[in-house]
Formats: sequence, C-alpha cells, structure tokens
Amino acid sequence: MTYFQLNRLLTTPDLVGQTVTAKGWVRTKRESKNVTFIALNDGSTINNLQAVAEAGILDEEILRKISTGACLAVTGTLVASQGSGQAVELKVERVEIYGPADPDQYPLQPKRHSLEFLREIAHLRPRTNTFGAVLRIRHALSFAIHKYFNDTGFFYLHTPIITGSDAEGAGEMFRVTTLDPLKPPRNDDGSVNYKEDFFGKETNLTVSGQLEGELGALALGKVYTFGPTFRAENSNTTRHLAEFWMVEPEMAFYELEDNMNLAEDFLKYLVRYVLEHCPDDLKFLETRLIDEEKLKPQTERSPMPLLEKLRFVLDNDFQRLTYTEAIDILVQSKPHKEKKFGYPVAWGVDLQSEHERYLVEKHFKKPVILTNYPKEIKAFYMKQDADNRTVRAMDVLFPGIGEIIGGSQREDDYEKLKQRVAEVGIAEESIWWYLETRKFGSAPHAGFGLGLERMAMFVTGMGNIRDVIPFPRFPKSAEF
Ligand code: 4AD
Ligand code: MG
Repeated sequence: MTYFQLNRLLTTPDLVGQTVTAKGWVRTKRESKNVTFIALNDGSTINNLQAVAEAGILDEEILRKISTGACLAVTGTLVASQGSGQAVELKVERVEIYGPADPDQYPLQPKRHSLEFLREIAHLRPRTNTFGAVLRIRHALSFAIHKYFNDTGFFYLHTPIITGSDAEGAGEMFRVTTLDPLKPPRNDDGSVNYKEDFFGKETNLTVSGQLEGELGALALGKVYTFGPTFRAENSNTTRHLAEFWMVEPEMAFYELEDNMNLAEDFLKYLVRYVLEHCPDDLKFLETRLIDEEKLKPQTERSPMPLLEKLRFVLDNDFQRLTYTEAIDILVQSKPHKEKKFGYPVAWGVDLQSEHERYLVEKHFKKPVILTNYPKEIKAFYMKQDADNRTVRAMDVLFPGIGEIIGGSQREDDYEKLKQRVAEVGIAEESIWWYLETRKFGSAPHAGFGLGLERMAMFVTGMGNIRDVIPFPRFPKSAEF
C-alpha cells in the first residue's frame, strides 16, 4: 500500500524518495508554461500537499478536469520541496480523477467566503480550512472528554434520549409521539389520550441526562453521560442550539467545593489537550481571527490572540464568588450606573449574558465560578442552603461565552426534595423513581453539565455556535 493520508505523508521524512499515492480534494490549481501546481487536501490535516506536474506528464483531458473541488488520486515521488511553504512536495507521475467539480457550478471558490454563506452550504463547508479545523478540534475535545473521565475513575453511563420527565423543569421540550396529529385519540374532556401513544404516556426528547445520571452515581460512584440534548427554547442567539451535545459528570460524595474543583480541572485539561494535539488547526484559526478582527472597530476587538487566551485560562485560578457578591459588584458597576445594561440588576434576577460577560471580561478578567444562586431561578433538584433563600448552584462563566457550565450539589434530603417538587409543580408520578434514591441510601452528591459546543466556541474562537457543529439545528432550520 503506497497510499497515505496527508497527516502522515507531510510529517514522515523517511517517505521522501518513495513513490506514494495521495487522495483528496483540489484546493487550488496554478498553471504556468512548464508546470502545474495542485494544492490537495484530504481533511486529515489543515496542511495541503503540493503536487507538481511538469508539462507533458498529464494529458489535456485530465489537466482540464483538475479544478478546485475535484477529487483525485495523485501518484508520484515524494521529494524535498523546492519552494518555501512546505517541507515536501509530490512530483506527479499519474493522476486519477475520482470526481470532477464543474468550476462554473462548484460553490466553494478559493477565496474567503462568509460564515453566513457557508451555513447555507453546510453539506460542503467541511471542505473549507475553517470547518476542517473546527471539526478536527471538536473531535479532539470529544475524545479528551472520554479520556479525562476514563483516566480518573468515572464510568460512562448511557442515559436515555427519550424521557417522560422534564429534568430542568423549564418545559422546553420536543414531543415524541406516534399519534396521528390530525386525529389523535381523545379523552372524554377532549384532551389527547396519551395512554394510547407509543409509550403509554407523554414523552419528550431529553433536555439533560442528569436525573438518570444521579441514579448511576448513587450506585457506581462516579459516572458521566455525554450525548445529544434537545431544547425547544426559541432562542435565536449565537450561543443556543436546539440540538447540542452535553457532557454531565455526576459524583457521589462530592459537595459544591469538590464539584467546582472538578469543573476547573476538567476545563483546563480540555484546553491543554487541544493545545497539545491541535497546534496547526489552532494556529490557522488564530490567524483567521486576527484577520477578521481587523474589520471590527477597535473597541470590539478581543484583547488577546487565541493561543494566548487559551494559555491564560490554564495559568489562572478561576475566580469564585457567590451570586450575592456578584450582584453587589454589578450594582456598583459603571454600565449599571450609566444604564448601559439592557436588563435590570437586583438580587433575585437571573443574570443575563451581558452581566456574566461584564464580570468575566471587565471586572475579574478571568473565568469566574458563581455559586449559591436564589432558589427561585434555579432547578428544583439543587441542594437548599441553610438560609432557605439560596441553593448550592454553580455556573462557570468564560470570556467571550458567558455560561459554559451549569451544575450544583443535589438535594439529598427526601422531605425537602419532595416539598420542592410540589412547590414548582412537577407531577410526583413523573419522577417517583428519582425521589426514591433519597428514600433509600441517599448520599451527598453533585454534578454539572458542560455544553460541548460552548467549549468548542471557546477553544476555536468561533463567534457563532452554529459554526462549531457540523449540522446545526435552530429555529426554522433543519436542512442538512
Ligand atoms: O445549565 P444547564 O441547563 O444545566 C443542566 O442541564 C444540568 N442538568 C446540568 C447538570 O448539572 N448535570 O445546561 C448545562 C450547559 C450550559 O452551561 C451550556 O454550556 C449548555 O449546557 N447549554 C446549551 N448549549 C447550547 N445550546 C443550548 N440551548 C444550551 N443549553 C444549555
Ligand atoms: Mg444553566
């Protein structure tokens, strides 16, 4: 076998002098009188192979079909490169065309396309440098997530996608049903009779694997779940998707402090992993960002280049403070006094991303962990503090992103949890099994959820969450 992927071909000096085959898609073709230069990329790396065909080597028909987007197999001798730009190049002997791409129709031209345009051709955008880099980094992050937990004694628990409960109690769920929408079976009072539905009850796509994760933690000790998560919130923002991937560790015998320590260590591990394993892709994205920033007004430019920002997170402890302390800071802040915030600030309000970003980017200038939020603005399962007003919640806030992690210590007291469930109006029949873990062998425990795409935004510097998932799902969009 003389076929090699480019990540190998371009980095293995002992292949120089050998006859090898590379396969991939043409990025550019440059022709001069005596020679044709083909930049080939196969997606295994951001770097292209330069293939050099001297005049007369390829027949006219083949030469014509070599154009941006075409897929080829190129065979030749790997030689030390004459030009700068690359260490090796391929002296072409033979080209096989797998699939031509009519240059008059192929939408990806060798120039910079806007991200908005690329979203409309999401079936082809993985072939661009930017999306290649993002998707390889997304892979590295996913792999690192499994590695981190595996190496620290966690078990991967597969929690269900279809559920009968609303884990976050926010009611933003996609219904799962096989009933005929035009003539569903009805009860006497006219309501839909879900007893006749596939599962014999109302079911939805999961908004979080946490509740089942807790069942696992209260048996296996330390577990994590990592899978697709669905929210039917109508948020057309740069940080929300209707379908995203969430990783949720859940640990028996962890309290809030342990939970924070784990979250900080985990996030730093992921950043370090990507710095170590994806240097070329990061370098490319950093340069891309610098070019993009030049088009922005001075005040909106990010203060640090991408790699510096990532190293900065590694080198600094996250700032930990309570929600109450954060509200004090925000009330004293300039944008609040000058009425620059779009949303009000007072004890009890849910923080908006403008507030979170003020704390992280302007006040502390580093990642922040906020704890002990008012119970009214957090989910029913969080452990209540002794003051009866706050719960042991924690949100991790990142520069440029806002909330990247949400988590808490869980309420482990059966009576208190039952009461809270009733207060917020959750039907006990829908989560009786969850309550039973507090009745039988309850234990202090805690966990959190990290949105994979928010993390991918942070490490790639991409500004829109729709550009860090191959096929984004958001309101009015499920094309690809
Ligand atoms: O803060 P959230 O809603 O927390 C939970 O779902 C808990 N059950 C997690 C746990 O304790 N096990 O979501 C957790 C994280 C957010 O911080 C954010 O990173 C991400 O999930 N997230 C989203 N990412 C993209 N699009 C959305 N619509 C998201 N909603 C939440
Ligand atoms: Mg949250």
